[in-house]
Amino acid sequence: MNPLKDAGVSPHILSLLDHLHKLSLDQEAKLDITALPHDSVHVATRDAFIALEQEKCHFVYQIARAVNAKTIVEAGTSFGVSTIYLSLAANANVGVSGGKSTVIATEHEPSKAAQARKHWAEVGEDITSNIDLRVGDLRDTLKENMPEVDLFLLDIWAPMTLPALKLVQPHLRHGAIVIVDNTIASASRYKDLLQHLRAEGSGFLNLTLPYHKGLEMCIYYP
Ligand SMILES: C[S@@+](CC[C@H](N)C(=O)[O-])C[C@H]1O[C@@H](n2cnc3c(N)ncnc32)[C@H](O)[C@@H]1O
Repeated sequence: MNPLKDAGVSPHILSLLDHLHKLSLDQEAKLDITALPHDSVHVATRDAFIALEQEKCHFVYQIARAVNAKTIVEAGTSFGVSTIYLSLAANANVGVSGGKSTVIATEHEPSKAAQARKHWAEVGEDITSNIDLRVGDLRDTLKENMPEVDLFLLDIWAPMTLPALKLVQPHLRHGAIVIVDNTIASASRYKDLLQHLRAEGSGFLNLTLPYHKGLEMCIYYP
């Protein structure tokens, strides 16, 4: 089952996504980033996708459609695979209920950002026009020009997750969704983030979904 196919996404985009996920999985089979010390992750993965798994991307697309997300932030863009899903979802929501879509994407490595732009160009103008790619350390790039956010995807090295959330949280709308990857497999690395999300009175309604290595879905009702 593929919700993008049901939504009428064109076959060339579906094939491109299948291809990019396959490239990512082939790379990851040779690289276990959870076994790497944090300070070597950047270097070891400079040329690697580490894309969010396809079934999780389908879930993210589905939830973005369910909550009519039109303004989305992504922490950790890499070669831009998950961004394609976010952009397609935001555009489809605009198609149904009008307005404007924006996906704020973030990538530290300029070479990865350039590759992401190439992938988006292969998808076409529809998505390149609504992505605001911010290149550099997200602790700088997310400080300013932040609209009200409907959905926030955290798919980034663990130590960056809480700083990223703290920058975006003041801009989350009531009922916004926060999704965090790998919250079962990397629970100890995410200790600070999970404590923040799950603290009494945090405003977050938290649920761990049993996808491979876990996927946290939180709803923000401050
Ligand atoms: C797991 S990958 C993202 C994969 C992407 N979401 C996808 O599905 O295709 C995490 C990315 O976050 C980037 N990153 C790490 N620290 C960062 C920071 N401080 N600011 C911006 N990007 C960062 C890394 O360079 C890496 O490409």
